[in-house]
Amino acid sequence: MSDQSFKRYTITAALPYANGPLHIGHLAGAYLPADIYVRYLRLQKKDVVFVCGSDEHGAAITLRAKKEGVSPREIVDRYHNQIQDTFQRFGMAFDIYHRTSSPLHHETSSQFFKTLYDKGQFEEQVSEQYYDQEYDQFLADRYIYGTCPNCGYEEAYGDQCEKCGTSLSPSDLINPKSTLSGNTPILRETRHWYLPLNKFQPWLEEWLLKGKKGKWKTNVYGQCSSWLKAGLQPRAMTRDLDWGVDVPLPDTEGKKLYVWMDAPIGYISATRQWAEENGKDWKTYWQASDTALIHFIGKDNIVFHCIIFPSILKAHGAYILPENVPANEFLNLEGKKISTSRNWAIWVHEYLDDFPGKEDILRYALCANMPETKDNDFSWKDFQMKNNSELVAILGNFVNRTLVLTQKYYDKVAPKRGQLQPIDQELIKELAEIPGRVSASLDAYRFREAQAGMMDLARAGNKYLADTEPWKMIKTDPERVKTIMNLALQVTANLAILMVPFLPHSSGKLYSMLQLDKLDWDKAGDHSLIAEGHTIGTPELLFTKVEDETIEAQLNKLMNNAETPQAQAQVTPAKEEIVFDDFMKMDIRVGTVIEAEKLKKSKKLLKLTIDTGIDKRTVLSGIAEHFTAEEVTGKQVCVLINLAPRKMMGIESQGMVLMAEDADGSLRFISPGEATANGAMVS
Ligand code: 2FM
Ligand code: ZN
Repeated sequence: MSDQSFKRYTITAALPYANGPLHIGHLAGAYLPADIYVRYLRLQKKDVVFVCGSDEHGAAITLRAKKEGVSPREIVDRYHNQIQDTFQRFGMAFDIYHRTSSPLHHETSSQFFKTLYDKGQFEEQVSEQYYDQEYDQFLADRYIYGTCPNCGYEEAYGDQCEKCGTSLSPSDLINPKSTLSGNTPILRETRHWYLPLNKFQPWLEEWLLKGKKGKWKTNVYGQCSSWLKAGLQPRAMTRDLDWGVDVPLPDTEGKKLYVWMDAPIGYISATRQWAEENGKDWKTYWQASDTALIHFIGKDNIVFHCIIFPSILKAHGAYILPENVPANEFLNLEGKKISTSRNWAIWVHEYLDDFPGKEDILRYALCANMPETKDNDFSWKDFQMKNNSELVAILGNFVNRTLVLTQKYYDKVAPKRGQLQPIDQELIKELAEIPGRVSASLDAYRFREAQAGMMDLARAGNKYLADTEPWKMIKTDPERVKTIMNLALQVTANLAILMVPFLPHSSGKLYSMLQLDKLDWDKAGDHSLIAEGHTIGTPELLFTKVEDETIEAQLNKLMNNAETPQAQAQVTPAKEEIVFDDFMKMDIRVGTVIEAEKLKKSKKLLKLTIDTGIDKRTVLSGIAEHFTAEEVTGKQVCVLINLAPRKMMGIESQGMVLMAEDADGSLRFISPGEATANGAMVS
């Protein structure tokens, strides 16, 4: 069965970790292709559910929480809201954006695990695993790092080397170290439940290697086949952690589901939630054989979606398997790998702030550079070129000329078509052929080619106007111009349809300028969509130029924000030498902020009440632009308590809270690494 002949579609886009904002690499990898595909399916009146949500468990979250000194709950709440808001502003066509910390997801994934357990699908094993004595914690996945045995990269994680992509287990690492303390871990026994992937190997060879050959993209198929060639090993589906979905078995306190077991089940929970809210039966979207399950992901997720999750679904028995997993490679930025930690990224929420109402330019530039078969690059110059030379000069120009001439010559009323000439027949032929070509590309997940196909229609329209020159002919043969303009209008209506998957916002604008009801995909190719006598609306520009200054500003922002060697060189030079006694004069204590209040009259000051162990005192701190009162309440901090009191805004400040300031001006509290008694001396 081809991917196009299913009765319904369950489309998933990788659940982003709720540990940071979205960047353009995320969009180009998974979300934009998924969104384009879903809009295309919906235009064909297919029954589709498009699910996504935040991935809120696993080391990505807990390590971030530890780094920031806050709870995992605080991290996931903050980033779930931010990511959801960004997706919504960008206009992603999700039916639901769910989250894996929801009770429904805990129930769904826990039940799933229990079913597999009851069916005897797991192997219980006690084994020695790395353990950090300082933090009292077992170290799996990202909690451990070391040298990759494959490529020698010294900071490979316990589950994967981010440099060469090899999947690892902690015992593969050379010179392993705890991510928490940096210490060399010891080995300690622990009990876990393993999915014996080795037992699924023969089935995977049949279903995937045989069944998906020539059907799945070669980058995806190739990665799967090297995995299978290397031979699969049992994989633990549980972890020793305190954040995640509880293992639903007796005597398993402190054990959670492996995040790569719970996260893909998040797609199912999201569908359940959506079905509940919309009076649908979630099971048909996951268990009926006439449903196509299609996962949109980035290449680092291939093994989980093509091998591990299908084995989990197969082990359960009631579920359909992915029909296709059209994973993309990675997007680079200005020739360098996008990096969250080095701030080498274009953050989607910042783009939306800087380019309001211009979501479609980003969609267009990302689709044109989509890393479909190999890593690809995004640059601001190319973004400008794609907008100015393609969206403005080709698509916008054709639409504008057609609508403005219709307004000028016919007072916005579509003219009647007369006798067709060969040049008209040629346009009609092209108009009839292009949608089929765009469909074929979309059906094959070739989005760059599909978008270029849509632009071919605008090019054909421009060429038609350039060849027929209605603006000259209006003086010599006004009857003939009626036919030309009628056909040009038909092209604009067709463009409105073909633009939907790629440029949905601009398509909407075009529909409203044409004063046309939305048309289905099967209408594309028709050269009689706008009836003679139909009145169009007032023409407006679909796209406007992006100026050089705008691009310069973005490039400067990127360079300035990035943690480059130049930025590091901005570290403040050392102060002059002091003697030991100078230091010993300072009385620095650990204290806890018990109350915090923003001073109404000051932009910068927070009034803190700090329990110093000796007393409870007021300290004014210039951190209000960086932290809210809620954020600092309860924090343990270090306070210089013998600083002479100082009055500010009429209030006496009795000390100073110690802070570290980055080159970019961001502030962090100096706090003891672990809970410490108030009053403890810092020396
Ligand atoms: O790589 C990631 O960002 C993961 N959070 C993707 C999870 S996809 C799914 F399985 F939930
Ligand atoms: Zn490696």
